[in-house]
Amino acid sequence: MSGRPSASRRAILRGAALTPAVALGLTACGPIGGGVTTPATPTAPVDLGAESEVPKGGAKLYRDHNVVVSRDADGTLKAYSTICTHAQCPINKLQGTKLICPCHGSEFDATTGEVVRSPASAPLPELPVRAEGGRLVAGPGA
Ligand code: FES
Repeated sequence: MSGRPSASRRAILRGAALTPAVALGLTACGPIGGGVTTPATPTAPVDLGAESEVPKGGAKLYRDHNVVVSRDADGTLKAYSTICTHAQCPINKLQGTKLICPCHGSEFDATTGEVVRSPASAPLPELPVRAEGGRLVAGPGA
């Protein structure tokens, strides 16, 4: 055996030298500088659409705005954020009046915001909501 590096050792060294370039390449394709948007509920009143879309005793999920609106038997409207209180995933499924988080399976009552299945433990934050001219408006200041 000589004291010179073997071909395989040189190959390993060369590979190690390339590693930072590979890492840079991956980083350049990653979500740098705000490439990932954090889901959010409205920060101002938003028009959700026709009031008639939320039936008495039912609920409607507005995925684009991360809001759920329910109406009780008396016609009273309630709105809640649909950003899960467990790890902030946007909730994307409504079955009847049950909201189901896709990330870890937490479930919430869309009429009260309360947790009905863990791992979430905190209720969904309530949002102001009102009907105006046949339209639903929800969000702070509504
Ligand atoms: S983020 Fe919704 S259950 Fe974990």
